Amino acid sequence: GAPVAVDISKIEPGQLIRVAWRGKPVWVVSRTQKVIDELPTHDGQLRDPDSQEPQQPDYITNLGRALKPEIFIAVGICTHLGCSPSYLPDSFSEQVQGIESGFFCPCHGSKFDMAGRVFQGVPAPLNLVIPPHYYTSDTTILIG
Ligand code: FES
Repeated sequence: GAPVAVDISKIEPGQLIRVAWRGKPVWVVSRTQKVIDELPTHDGQLRDPDSQEPQQPDYITNLGRALKPEIFIAVGICTHLGCSPSYLPDSFSEQVQGIESGFFCPCHGSKFDMAGRVFQGVPAPLNLVIPPHYYTSDTTILIG
């Protein structure tokens, strides 16, 4: 399939933009500084802290699993049985106490943080997949 260009010039803090890439939903999410600062505090609660399987391109190695900390991009498919998790920008603490934002899979209750990292105690074995992507300008991302 062809690469998909995403214009992020108008994305609002906390907003999630959905695009389709190779028939799959891809999320482009704006992470606030608060969300970015929270990510290191999830150590010890994660099921796949080192992204064991190749769940991301090899040029993405940082904790936030993104080229730019403020923009997170992932395939929006649960690594358990393929449902699409819901984005809970401000009510995720009902799922994991003390964490305001994240993704919750309604099918069997898997929980992912704002870097798509899976929490312990849920059926999904692996972090969400990060698709190949790069920036063609400050505000344009090419996925694929
Ligand atoms: Fe997401 Fe089962 S498909 S928890």
